[in-house]
Amino acid sequence: MSFLKETEKYIHDVIAECGYDIENVSLESSSRRDLGEFQINVCMSLAKRYGKNPREIADQIVSKFDDRFLNVNIAGPGFINVTINEKYLLDRINSSIDNFDNLIDKLEKKTIMVDYGGANAAKALHVGHMRPANIGESLKRLAETLGMKTIGDVHLGDIGRQSGMLITEIKKRKPDLCYFDLNYKGKYPKLEITEEELGEYYPAASNDAKENPERMEEVRKITALVDKEVEPYFSMWKDIVEVSKKSIKKSYDYLNCNFDLWEGELSSLKYVPDTLKVLEPYMYESEGAKVIDVKKDDDKLEVPPLIVIKNDGATIYATRDLATIYARVKLYNPDEIWYVVDARQSLYFEQVFRAAYKSHLVRDDVKLSHYWFGTMNGSDGKPFKTRDGGVASLNGLINDVKTKLISKLDKYDESEKDKIADILTVATIKFADLLPYRTTDFIFDIDKITSFEGKTGPYVLYTMVRIKSILNKANMNKYSIHSVYSETEKSIYIKLLEISKMLNKAYNEKTLSYVCEYLFDLCSLFNKFYGERSVLNETDELKKESYIGLLNIMYNVGYKLLNILAIGVPEKM
Ligand code: ARG
Repeated sequence: MSFLKETEKYIHDVIAECGYDIENVSLESSSRRDLGEFQINVCMSLAKRYGKNPREIADQIVSKFDDRFLNVNIAGPGFINVTINEKYLLDRINSSIDNFDNLIDKLEKKTIMVDYGGANAAKALHVGHMRPANIGESLKRLAETLGMKTIGDVHLGDIGRQSGMLITEIKKRKPDLCYFDLNYKGKYPKLEITEEELGEYYPAASNDAKENPERMEEVRKITALVDKEVEPYFSMWKDIVEVSKKSIKKSYDYLNCNFDLWEGELSSLKYVPDTLKVLEPYMYESEGAKVIDVKKDDDKLEVPPLIVIKNDGATIYATRDLATIYARVKLYNPDEIWYVVDARQSLYFEQVFRAAYKSHLVRDDVKLSHYWFGTMNGSDGKPFKTRDGGVASLNGLINDVKTKLISKLDKYDESEKDKIADILTVATIKFADLLPYRTTDFIFDIDKITSFEGKTGPYVLYTMVRIKSILNKANMNKYSIHSVYSETEKSIYIKLLEISKMLNKAYNEKTLSYVCEYLFDLCSLFNKFYGERSVLNETDELKKESYIGLLNIMYNVGYKLLNILAIGVPEKM
């Protein structure tokens, strides 16, 4: 149990011992450190409930406190201010130096599936794919840190117009392949296509189809055949998807986004018949399509019926999402499924979730949630575009950031520089992306986010590398914090004790912004400490051991939190 939680429990027990019934006590860190480090604010509400004077209650409570609190005083109408006895504080900090879990409170274990990333097969990832990947990956890691079992699934968009685009492009470029020979009688071989070809084909096809209605018609026809699983097109498409997965995976790997599952719309198809059986009693026909009513009496906005089967009998995006829910429940029995998908799909998910509950495709106690996020804007506040107004590719954006950072790293030889620049690039992008509150827009300002000062990835990594370098130079295996020698150190220890509250808040609100802010604060405190003390030149052995202890816990905590953000730390920079 974290120190603060344990202390809150202690206070709770003292209050109960005084004869008052109380549910939760919260220890709030105080902005008036001169009065006390923490404040207890329960006396006023107790006074109301028991018809007593709050100061009297406060007196009664504090008279029972043991030596874990110092400078206990009662302020104003009945605020209890306390300072933590250094002995208790340091005991906990020392036992947490190499044990992060000692600082946090695990939550009740659940199985959580996280649907994030959402890439579409055969198309390059664009900047719009960045937020769902980064936020999803980090929410997943946050949940894991707090004791959850998590399963991440990319839910690949592998059914759609892309299939027709790709196959018609292959036909155009390689018309002699057996797939296009109407008289071909043999067994169709596996389609050979490279990642490079794939990268080239989609944009070419899409440009051509835009200008050429005949081509578009052909794309539509082939897409419909693939959707109906007609050979050889269906198998060709599946071969294309496999190759495409490889290149998509490379981009996600670069961003440290690791999916446990690479399922998608295609892999959900085999669950469609069973899903429809469950849905059948709730569906009715409307203009030839099969739909489910999902509106509720208290809806403020109209929630239209969800189309499950189109009028031509084909499945659509929603059918595949419902079948995916069916499969997830059957295969993994999750307690919750989180959809980290942009805000434009909010109404859609509301419809899908309602249909799933209404038809009992999922039990009521399985929590389906859509965690949407703000849009990525350029420095002008408008949705991010390339200079010529197009949709920017994710790789292009990554390269821009990397180039900018490399120009700032001049101390290293080329091979090292590249490795460091990669780690730094990921840190820059992720920190910037995860810093705003989840539902606020994210402004991509390349100068600001690559700066080594301010709330940026480079600033945090620079601080981490600085700590590591002092630890390496000091090369001490023996470290323990013997005493608190300055106010800055005190602030650092108190900050460390607050980590559990911060993580729980981040988890409850599903935002990484608190983790980023916390890391920034911790780094700033460290840099303040660094300006005040020369650790390596310290001649007092006890002080030096304490400082090394402080550096170790700072580094370890920083490392763990950066790991939640899926940011690695370079050895030097
Ligand atoms: N591929 C989809 C898109 O580009 C996102 C998938 C989100 N996940 C889901 N289960 N629908 O919009």
